[in-house]
Amino acid sequence: MTMRFSKIVFALVLILSLIQTQGCKHEPVIVLTAADSAICFERDILPIFVTNCAKSGCHDAVTAEEELILNSWQGIMAGGIKPGDPSDSEIFQEIKGKMGGPKYGNLNSEQKILIQKWIMLGAKNTTNCPTDCDSNQFKFSANIQPMIDKYCAGCHAYPNTSGSVDLSSHTSIASYAKNGTLLNSLTHPTNWMPKGGNKLSDCQIKQFEKWINAGAPND
Ligand code: HEC
Repeated sequence: MTMRFSKIVFALVLILSLIQTQGCKHEPVIVLTAADSAICFERDILPIFVTNCAKSGCHDAVTAEEELILNSWQGIMAGGIKPGDPSDSEIFQEIKGKMGGPKYGNLNSEQKILIQKWIMLGAKNTTNCPTDCDSNQFKFSANIQPMIDKYCAGCHAYPNTSGSVDLSSHTSIASYAKNGTLLNSLTHPTNWMPKGGNKLSDCQIKQFEKWINAGAPND
């Protein structure tokens, strides 16, 4: 009898808590962990904005849609970020909604959560953060592709192919690798890629260089 009663109570509590989370209008509940304190603006957050938002025709210096230029901490903060409070941060609300969708930034949920956590932690302008880059690691799937996704894909993969450059498959990336334009675009002293963003680090450029010298394999 008591067993059955406790089962009913358990079921009720479960139902109530489900109703509460479903009906809640706030952000998805994110629990910050100790590791999250390492989130770094320059290394983790800025590249997401540069390739997904600060592109031509959107929020770059030339177009400045809604007067927003989203390739610096100042520009992003000016778009309406309230440190500590994602639900009161206009830019984050846009990213969560339409601007994060396929026609615009196409951010994945991991990127949205990262931005949410960064705001929760005070939206600090952290720079010069350590990386785990190792220039002796230069496999396409483990090293090159993730950098293309992080730094380039927002401008160079469907539906955006800036400069008619499509970097969405190994075949196309390898063709730019082999004709020299890929490395040149990363090392060029002015107007380097990622356009409008920080230059990749020497270590990251070395990874590209070694992969290209190895014949740009699909490894
Ligand atoms: C904010 C948008 C943006 C980002 C991010 C970006 N590009 Fe570009 N890219 C462009 C535009 C626009 C062009 C056309 C040329 C120009 O306007 O400078 C271009 C041109 C290129 C070209 C052709 C250059 C040439 O010399 O013909 C290559 C190669 C290239 N990008 C590679 C990359 C790589 C690799 C990354 C990531 C590390 C990247 N781009 C990130 C916008 C971007």
